[in-house]
Amino acid sequence: MITDKKNFLKWLRGAAPYIREHSGKTFVIQIDGDLVASDHFQGFVHDIALLNTLGIRVVVVFGVRAQVEKLLDERGIQSVYHHNLRVTDKAALECFKEAVGSVRFEIEAKLSMGLPNSPMAHSDITVSSGNFVTARPMGVIDGTDMQFTGSLRKVDADAIRSRLDNGDVVLLSPLATSVTGEVFNLSALSVATQTAIELGADKLILSFNYDGINGVDGEALHQMTDSEAETLLQTAGDVDIAPWVQLAGAVQACKASVQRVHLIDDRDDSSLLIELFTRDGIGTLISHSRFDAVRRAGHDDIAGIMELIEPLVAQGRLVERSIEQLESDIDDFTVLDRDGAVIACVATHVNAGGNIAEMACMVVHPDYQNQGKGQLLYQQVENALKKQGVSKVFLLTTQANHWFIEQGFVEAKVDDLPLARQDLYNYQRNSKVLLKNLD
Ligand SMILES: CC(C)(COP(=O)(O)OP(=O)(O)OC[C@H]1O[C@@H](n2cnc3c(N)ncnc32)[C@H](O)[C@@H]1OP(=O)(O)O)[C@@H](O)C(=O)NCCC(=O)NCCS
Repeated sequence: MITDKKNFLKWLRGAAPYIREHSGKTFVIQIDGDLVASDHFQGFVHDIALLNTLGIRVVVVFGVRAQVEKLLDERGIQSVYHHNLRVTDKAALECFKEAVGSVRFEIEAKLSMGLPNSPMAHSDITVSSGNFVTARPMGVIDGTDMQFTGSLRKVDADAIRSRLDNGDVVLLSPLATSVTGEVFNLSALSVATQTAIELGADKLILSFNYDGINGVDGEALHQMTDSEAETLLQTAGDVDIAPWVQLAGAVQACKASVQRVHLIDDRDDSSLLIELFTRDGIGTLISHSRFDAVRRAGHDDIAGIMELIEPLVAQGRLVERSIEQLESDIDDFTVLDRDGAVIACVATHVNAGGNIAEMACMVVHPDYQNQGKGQLLYQQVENALKKQGVSKVFLLTTQANHWFIEQGFVEAKVDDLPLARQDLYNYQRNSKVLLKNLD
């Protein structure tokens, strides 16, 4: 019991920066009909209510494919597809209207719950839905009349913003009207993507019942830039099906203005909150710039660096550094930053002549070791040193000499160190001396 409570506290403390960070931000969340029909849909809606309670401006776009398929099946209607798009005839459109109406009410009802002993107690959420999206007919494509299948013409971002300003959760469906008053069936993904772009949303979250995105060798990919996602899309066979169609939507949104797009597997009922409130998330994050950034350290990083090195100092693997020392040396540090947290660091002290540097304090957080992060950090620091005109790097290490040898260092003697450093060499520690010529 105590362990549970302690775990909860640990989780809450870990989530605190994200709670602060997300407040006041705009998230567009797309959910599909399968999730709506699943057992854990209620939990998912509760999580959306929680986001609203935390001051996040939430737009939910829902799909109804599963519900429409069921209705069509019951009525013995077969849909015709053209280029992987349903040709929405009058009968199919009726099924869409029915499904949209019923799913909308279901979501509204769940968001309106206020039972005292449920997660919705006192939530008091207002849901806004309406004609925020305008459609136009898709027309005739390669000789096929797409009938009531439409494309998105306009999103009334100002109207949505004013509802969000009011604290409402905005609910959008895949049905929209044209200026002639006809109703068209759009793809929920395009509604979500375009709405996120028009709103300049901070996040677009695309939930779907799929394991996630894998690389060409089958490895799970948890983050990539939009350019990397584009390259991966070129290896995909059919870009009109999951997960590629979602990945293409993510690239489009990132290239436009959306800062981060998250693809999450909605078969896991905790995926939304884990993705949003933990550093590593659970799905695939696509962003315009890299999630892990190598950058020079600043005074705000001192606490993070201390946290990284303290356990190693305690084990005798690193020489102790006081906060005062760190403060005066902070300009020599480079850090690997993941979403604002320092997950690796290294210091490089360049001599007065500017040609020799000592590397020290190279640490990767245990959670991130053996993922190439040390090498990434080392490589960038080495490149920066070369640019500065440094021709030789040395370092002292007790337990990572083989790792540095793999980065091109060779073992040397204490006599090979600059004279001033030889005087400071601690024979009791008996560290290995390693050198690398950068010429
Ligand atoms: C040494 C360290 C910086 C490497 O960073 P990393 O991100 O884990 O390493 P990478 O992912 O780039 O490289 C992983 C490879 O290095 C190897 N490796 C990791 N630590 C090693 C070590 N101490 N000695 C030898 N090889 C090591 C791994 O086995 C792996 O090899 P493989 O790919 O053949 O399986 C990191 O493990 C660390 O912080 N260690 C503790 C602190 C320390 O000793 N720092 C050096 C003091 S100056």
